[in-house]
Amino acid sequence: MKTRAIAVMRNNDRGHYTVPTHGLYPFQWNWDSALSALGFAHFDEPRAWTEITTLFAHQWDDGMVPHIIFHQEDDGYYPGPDVWQTGRATPTSGITQPPVAGFAVRRIFERAKDSALAREKAKALLPKIHAWHQWFYTMRDPQKTGLVAIIHPWESGRDNAVDWDEAFARIPTDGVGPLNRRDTSHANPEHRPTDEQYKRYIWLVQRFRSLGWDNSKLHDASPFQVVDPGFNGILIRSCADLAMVATALGETEIATQSRALADRGLAALETLWSADHAQYLCWDRAIGTAIDSPSIGGLLASFAPIPPQRAATISTRINAIAETCAYVVPSHDPTHPAFDALRYWRGPVWLIVNFMIANGLQNAGQTGTSERVMQDCIRLIDESGFAEYYGPHDAEPCGGDQFTWTAAMVIEILNIQRAKAA
Ligand code: DGY
Repeated sequence: MKTRAIAVMRNNDRGHYTVPTHGLYPFQWNWDSALSALGFAHFDEPRAWTEITTLFAHQWDDGMVPHIIFHQEDDGYYPGPDVWQTGRATPTSGITQPPVAGFAVRRIFERAKDSALAREKAKALLPKIHAWHQWFYTMRDPQKTGLVAIIHPWESGRDNAVDWDEAFARIPTDGVGPLNRRDTSHANPEHRPTDEQYKRYIWLVQRFRSLGWDNSKLHDASPFQVVDPGFNGILIRSCADLAMVATALGETEIATQSRALADRGLAALETLWSADHAQYLCWDRAIGTAIDSPSIGGLLASFAPIPPQRAATISTRINAIAETCAYVVPSHDPTHPAFDALRYWRGPVWLIVNFMIANGLQNAGQTGTSERVMQDCIRLIDESGFAEYYGPHDAEPCGGDQFTWTAAMVIEILNIQRAKAA
């Protein structure tokens, strides 16, 4: 299985970056790259560092790292650079994605066989990743709550999660021309977001574009401002991990600042806890209410070093969800009316999220659930190959296939399982 996973990664390797999959996603995506680097690190350490270094070569002056870098022309994807119009020499999108890079860099750094290379690369990346973290807390938390908001569903990575439905219903669609969707020609339209959602995705892009992509204006100008516990959990974890790398490299100022950001985020994350749902919930900042949606976002927060009793409750909750489907962890609660088994982030299982949840639960001592989640990942691959995501009832492979980060997570999980067995 590892050999097949490496072949998938090599096949999607474009030299200094990887595409998530041929056809559907023909450019470099932010969190895909950082997580894929974890896979590369097991068989080609220099290539792992190159992946993240390329990503940060396209960081904006204000600190943001964009969610797509359009390294080459390809009209097989919409919306392309002509829609974003961000004015970059190498075109990029104008929004960001979950900041997993701090986590990835620590993991690659600490287990590096070539420690001289690791120190050199990590040292170069450290201030850049820190600047991105600071950017989040400056631009996406202007009221200094300790939690950042996303201003576009694509920033969460969970594009069409049920979490956004009510907030999204308030987004207008006026001024959005005909859609030129290409995703539905590469993947089954039943597995993808709807046209109604796409119109709103594009409306937001047009709104931000009209403000010249000035991040000091975008948060307050966006009618979509949602605080996602999963997204914040990733940011907190990355700040905490970056603090560890900074300490190892003697960069005490970055270490202290990163630790402080993580601590403040962790304290604020508590405000998103729902005792009723036994998980965290999203918060609709635009109207000041909790979002009553039991999605994986509230479980993914366990990737952060949350209090042990919270991790224990989330572990119990995942075991309860496991009674309702064949493969955990579905991206939405299968017993909830909005659950949609095969449609992108409204039900399917994603290996990257599973890996992060398993990692967080392992750190919190929830070993049994962590192992169960990882075993289900391997069962999904056995059943259905390296898909983008999977039906939680029948392992149906969905979205794109031969997927880079799915392969990377398989390599990680096989490695963890082998180390445990030894
Ligand atoms: C897409 O195009 O489906 C992406 O998720 C947006 O980043």
